[in-house]
Formats: sequence, C-alpha cells, structure tokens
Amino acid sequence: QDAVRALRGRLLWFVGDPHKIGEAAHRYVEDGLLVVEGGLIRAAGEARALLPTLPAATEIIDHRPHLIMPGFIDAHIHMPQTQVIASYGAQLMEWLNKYTFVEEQKLAQQGHAEKLSRFLLDELLSSGTTTAAVYCSVHEKSAEAFFTESHRRNTRMIAGKVMMDRNAPAALTDTAESGYAESKALIGRWHGKGRQLYAITPRFAVTSSPEQMAASQRLVAEHPDCFVQTHINENRAEIAFARELYPDAADYAGIYEDYGLLGRKSLLGHCIHMTKREWRAFAQAGAVAVFCPTSNLFLGSGLFDWERARREGVKVALATDIGGGTSYSMLRTMAEAYKILQLQGQSLSAFEALHAITLGNAVALGLDHLIGSFEAGREADIVVLDPAATLAMAHRLETARDLSEELFVLVTLGDERNVVATYVMGERVELPEA
Ligand code: GUN
Ligand code: FE
Repeated sequence: QDAVRALRGRLLWFVGDPHKIGEAAHRYVEDGLLVVEGGLIRAAGEARALLPTLPAATEIIDHRPHLIMPGFIDAHIHMPQTQVIASYGAQLMEWLNKYTFVEEQKLAQQGHAEKLSRFLLDELLSSGTTTAAVYCSVHEKSAEAFFTESHRRNTRMIAGKVMMDRNAPAALTDTAESGYAESKALIGRWHGKGRQLYAITPRFAVTSSPEQMAASQRLVAEHPDCFVQTHINENRAEIAFARELYPDAADYAGIYEDYGLLGRKSLLGHCIHMTKREWRAFAQAGAVAVFCPTSNLFLGSGLFDWERARREGVKVALATDIGGGTSYSMLRTMAEAYKILQLQGQSLSAFEALHAITLGNAVALGLDHLIGSFEAGREADIVVLDPAATLAMAHRLETARDLSEELFVLVTLGDERNVVATYVMGERVELPEA
C-alpha cells in the first residue's frame, strides 16, 4: 500500500471550473506518468520529467498506448435492479409495479442482496466506474450487504436503504419509525467508515407518507453530512400522483422542500418535467439534478434539458439508473446523453462528456477534494481505456485527426469493452471474465 507505483500512458483529466468546460479545462499528457503512493495520487505529468524523480525500485506499469483517466462516477443506480434491466413494454409506474417491486422483494431472501452487491460492484468496476450513489432495497440488510462488500473492496461508494411506507407491496414497505431507526443504525455503522458514505433514501414522494418524509427530515437534521437521494419529475403520471398525495405543496420540488430534503447534498434523479419555480428552488438550494439518459429513453420518460439547468445555475450529475437504465457504462450513458441533447438542438463535446463523468460528477457530489481528478492527494481510483478496443472503433479511428475526434469516437461507440484495467486506491482490480 505505501509503496510508490507509477502508471505510464496517455493521461487525461480535468481541472477547474465545471461551468466553463471547454478544451481549456482538460489536461492531456501523451507520454504521461501517474505516480501513486499510499493509494493516493502523488504526481501526474510528463514521463520524462517524473521518471528521474522516482525511487530506484519503483514499479512502473506500462499502459502505453492506452488512455489513463480518473475512475468514472455514477450518480444514481439501483443495486436491487440488476435483474430488472431490459424489462419489456412499460413506463415508470407500471414498470415499478410489474417488474421492479417484484424483484426487490427477493432481497428478503438469505444471500440475495450479497449476490447482487457482488455482481453490481464487479460490473461497475468492469465498466471503469469506481464511485456510485446506490439505492439498496427497503431491507436494512440489503444496505448492510452492499456496504460490507464495498468496504471489503475499498471502493468509495455512497449508498442507502430505501425508505418506502405506502403505494408498494406490503412486503416492500417499512414504516416512518422503522425506516428512521434502520437508516439511523446504518449511518452509525457505515457513514465515514473507510470510504463508505451514507445517503438518506426516501424513494420518492409517491411511496413515502408525510410521516416518513418528516422522519427523513429528522435524519437529515441529525446527520447533515449525509447525502439525500430520491426521484423527481420523471414521468407525467408519477407527477400527478405525487401532487395528489401532497396537495398543499407548491409543486413536486415543493414536497421535498417542505420536509427539508432539498439541499446541497440532495441528489434528485431525473428532473425532466420541471417548472420555472422548481428550477429556481434547485438553484437556491444548491440541489443536484441527476440526468439518467438511458433510463429516460428506455422508460420513455422524456428529454432532460441540460442547457436549461446550466442557465438556471443548477448542478447536474450523470447516472445510469440501472435497472431503468440499460447500460452500466458511463461511456454509453454519455453517448445517449448526446442524442437526447441533439433532439433539443443542444450539443455535448467529448471533453464535456468525459469531464461530466469524472470531475463534473465529483463536483456535483461535493467529493472533488477526494476523487475525480489526478490532482496530487486525490484517491487513486483510475480507469485505463483502449479507444481502439473493437474492430469498428479501430477502423473509425483511422480517420480521426486529433484528440477531440478520437475521444468523441470513444464516447459515442465506447463501453465496458474499452476498459483495460481499473485501479482502486492504486491497486489493480481483478476484473471478472465475461
Ligand atoms: N422512481 C421511484 N423509484 C424508481 C426506480 O426504481 N427507478 C426509476 N427510474 N424511477 C423511480
Ligand atoms: Fe432511479
């Protein structure tokens, strides 16, 4: 762990102001060296400058000609839904009842949450994702299982037990009090233990009673350094249902505001059908809008307006939302984000996309002092990528004229097949074979 180790290859990372992402904000070193010590980044720069500074016995892992980037970050994913992906023919509310709530009940079975947690972490790391914000199931043991497995692997994960006390099968509901007590116990055991962080997780206004929302508010007040994660404004029927359940709220965002759940550490999935007031409320609260491209397309939910979020000064994070989403890969996720923006006359450069899934997400999560770049002192979570991993990509790259074109091919055609290696705190992860 304490030994110095160095990775040689094409370094690419981002620096500076997330609201001014242009080509200027990236750092690229063609023959670069990334020096790691004690699991942290010690230096990133030109190989010829750094090599002479290393102790004689330093292990140098030669990844040339591959790209070396900070590990990807996924801001919203459901651990219990790895066997829900690709469920046919339904939009949100029907999809929840017909498929999702059926699968999530299985986490009551002995060993199932452990199995799904191992699978999810394998799949994330194979896709180059080293940090994620994870919804577990309503069962306290599901979050216990996920944290235990993540802690064993030393991955930096944010997770929480879902709280839901109505509009779901009886086997999947807690109560305002039990949801509070179980979340509280999990926070005590896991928040800040090693690299684990807790997210207070009322699933969404539809499945939480006012009493449970008040219990969530108490948790937030008692643990202001925990995250909050929930869903909002994903689907028209969902919005109508939420408004019906909370008739006194100004709007959907107002429901969360009324219970103190809209703050700087709040990650709100989807944000597709937002009113002017809701955008303002997000901006004022510093809340994060989480854009889930493959899920929004797969469930037919709608088109996220990134340009609007930028204009309103609302932080945006990117996420897969597995199992509404259809790929674990943040590269594939960004390819779909590009298409969603194209449908609205907006655009997304390769640099902006790669910024979003590394430093951009780290900033949105308030974790950029720990992860998301190669600044000295950051945790050495790293992905090594081969942009020519497939025949189609190698063929297309024959005509790419510069770095930005090459990276746009990577973002548009890339996925887990491009991942050569993943490192967690400077240690190479054993990736499972397909
Ligand atoms: N809204 C409430 N729960 C969920 C979920 O599991 N997935 C998605 N996409 N939306 C939700
Ligand atoms: Fe979700």
